Amino acid sequence: MITVEVALPGRAYPIHIAAGLLARADLLLPHIPGRQVLVVSNPTVAALYMAPLRATLQAAGLRVAEHLLPDGEVYKDLEHVAGIFDTLLAENMDRRCTVLALGGGVVGDMAGFAAACYQRGVNFIQVPTTLLAQVDSSVGGKTGVNHARGKNMIGAFKQPSLVLIDTAVLATLPRRELAAGLAEVIKYGLIRDADFLHWLGAHADALLQGEPQALAQAIAVSCRHKAAVVIADEFEQGERALLNLGHTFGHAIETHTGYGSWLHGEAVAVGMLMAARMSQGRGDLSADEVAGLEDLLRRCGLPTQAPAMQAADFQSWMAHDKKVLDGRQRLVLLRALGHAEVVEVDADELHRALLEMLHA
Ligand code: NAD
Ligand code: GLY
Repeated sequence: MITVEVALPGRAYPIHIAAGLLARADLLLPHIPGRQVLVVSNPTVAALYMAPLRATLQAAGLRVAEHLLPDGEVYKDLEHVAGIFDTLLAENMDRRCTVLALGGGVVGDMAGFAAACYQRGVNFIQVPTTLLAQVDSSVGGKTGVNHARGKNMIGAFKQPSLVLIDTAVLATLPRRELAAGLAEVIKYGLIRDADFLHWLGAHADALLQGEPQALAQAIAVSCRHKAAVVIADEFEQGERALLNLGHTFGHAIETHTGYGSWLHGEAVAVGMLMAARMSQGRGDLSADEVAGLEDLLRRCGLPTQAPAMQAADFQSWMAHDKKVLDGRQRLVLLRALGHAEVVEVDADELHRALLEMLHA
């Protein structure tokens, strides 16, 4: 088992990574203060993994209740978080209860937000079951829901007390979802670790085929990067914003096309390529480097072309971004492979770049 510590002062927590961890009560129990656990999941994941997890918790003497959210990004809203509160109250969960998220990023973000709000905050555990959730969303405490006008616009920081990554659950993950997770893995290489980017180039086929050792290695490296960034800048005053490489472009794609038709990771993949092209336009990346990224994304089963959209529409969706400050558009761009920066971008420069990229 690999363990990565998220060493936040006063709220440090471990990320345990290995196959078979759903059965490990010994890893869960030290992070469960009371006797009551609400497992939040969805019908797809629950059908596969609720029974073994429930058995582990109940064998340890815990009272376990369930709340199933409908499956899909389109349900990631306040109304469905309210349903979690209803179950917590119906089950008489007290302030020492634990909310445990069993699922992908949608379940994790919503369950975490419910845990942040219920009785002003209760214990929270992440058991992520998609690659994307294992390498990104389960670590670092960002929780929340979408608004019709913008993605993840309503939320809270709520660090989990444990992230338990059972890599065996990836065996049932559809290939398209695995690829979407690889987009966030590639992101760490682009913003922080050019060597990792090269390693990914050499292992892209193994990763997309779900080869367990390659996946475990990619998850561990990604979690180390994520933990380092979160420790340095928990509340995104600086460095953490770099984790949003490609996301401002990606959120425009997701919001414009309606949540759910493009997977988050797919939109991020195209967004990272668009950011790389802008960096090329600024003279920071070479044409070969951008072509290399495009090739890596393609080999990881990811799209490389934005959907048909007008530049003006794209730009107005981009304006609904949490990095926009005082009306100024700020974007994460690459100064080199393995090195990113937040830069303020002039509206005309962005418009010209979008015209080129969207009609290429
Ligand atoms: P998801 O949660 O929708 O899961 C994808 C699909 O896979 C779902 O249909 C789910 O039911 C299914 N699934 C999950 N685990 C499975 C398994 N082991 N086997 C078979 N099927 C399985 O999508 P996601 O990509 O995990 O997460 C995307 C969400 O994460 C977005 O809402 C995004 O905004 C959010 N996100 C949050 C953060 C953060 O820091 N909080 C970071 C990145 C992304
Ligand atoms: N996924 C971006 C962040 O956690 O900051």
